[in-house]
Amino acid sequence: MDWRTKLLDPTPWSRRDYKSLATPVYRGSTVVFDDQDSVQDGWQQEKYGYSYGLYGTPTTLELAARITHLEGAHNSFIVPGGQAAIALVYMAYCSTGSHALVPFSAYGPNKEMAEGILRKFGIEVEAYDPLIGSAITSLIRDNTTLIWCESPGSVTMEIQDVPAIVAAAHESGVAVALDNTYAAGVMFDAFHHGVDVSIQALTKYIGGHSDLLLGSVSTRDENAYETLGPVYRQLGMAVSPDDCSLALRGLQTLAARLSQLEKSSLEIANWLAKNPHIAAVYHPALPSCPGHAQWKRDFTGSASVFSILFKDHCSFQQVENFLNRLTIFKIGLSWGGVNSLAVIYPDLHRPGQNFAGRLVRLNIGLETTSDLIADLKTALAELPPVK
Ligand SMILES: Cc1ncc(COP(=O)(O)O)c(C=O)c1O
Repeated sequence: MDWRTKLLDPTPWSRRDYKSLATPVYRGSTVVFDDQDSVQDGWQQEKYGYSYGLYGTPTTLELAARITHLEGAHNSFIVPGGQAAIALVYMAYCSTGSHALVPFSAYGPNKEMAEGILRKFGIEVEAYDPLIGSAITSLIRDNTTLIWCESPGSVTMEIQDVPAIVAAAHESGVAVALDNTYAAGVMFDAFHHGVDVSIQALTKYIGGHSDLLLGSVSTRDENAYETLGPVYRQLGMAVSPDDCSLALRGLQTLAARLSQLEKSSLEIANWLAKNPHIAAVYHPALPSCPGHAQWKRDFTGSASVFSILFKDHCSFQQVENFLNRLTIFKIGLSWGGVNSLAVIYPDLHRPGQNFAGRLVRLNIGLETTSDLIADLKTALAELPPVK
């Protein structure tokens, strides 16, 4: 064999019996088959064997299998991010003429998709009050094909009565998808509570270190799996095995991180609730959070993200100055990593509520709690005196 050909020979030379605690990173687009008869080209690689890297290498499928196992799902797809997961669900469950329901507290880009791509394709998405519960029945139409839940909601943190919504939806034969990112797929048992599809932005708690973007779409049964699978294939939702490897590592420390994040976040939320500048703390484990009773009934814990509403005597500018004075808390979107973050959503709209830029979302990280409280205390001290 010429040395140039030798360079390209994929036959392994080293021993193959290496046993490690880590999942190897398998890269690869092309899969080679033993013979022409063995060639197949399906997305159901768990069932029929590997066909093409687009549908996952062993690293990707290991992550999918672990998410499946953790969530008690039938199967999971790993996709490029949480938003990609949302897109996949819409594309699989809706078609021209469909009607879908989404809580008005849903992740912003979910609603943007409704106003953008989905409207362009003739899909109508209607926003509903996240606290509607079983009264959602009145919004279900003959052409309703999908109901989204996101609990707690983004920024305003409403906890939904998911079992009541599922019961109403299933009575009309409508599928329910849940954005279960806050609960990291573990603190709220989506499938026990009847949802058909549970998605996560793995970017948040599973990744856990603000250095990857991934999503998961987990299914309740074969029906949901077969509804999503062909669309997953057609959209070509490839992910990097390197990112999946980081997510697999994130899973190993998820329990330890969630436990510390819950403890620290609760301490900080309770401390903030006593501050005279704060009108309300929207933390699911605090009675001041809308839907707190549902959290108590359905969740096994709370996470690191919550919001605080400043009282009327604080102007938007003063709240902004408060944020800019923070030093350990960084200003940034997203959450679920090791660093504490704060951000104002100046344009946040909720029907019947005007936050006037006084709502701040916090993500608590793994820094020492007393340092975080000291950081908040220093920044709060500069606010105008309470009248
Ligand atoms: C609740 C929720 N769902 C989905 C997403 C989207 O995830 P990604 O950033 O991985 O696309 C986010 C991101 O902030 C989120 O907060």
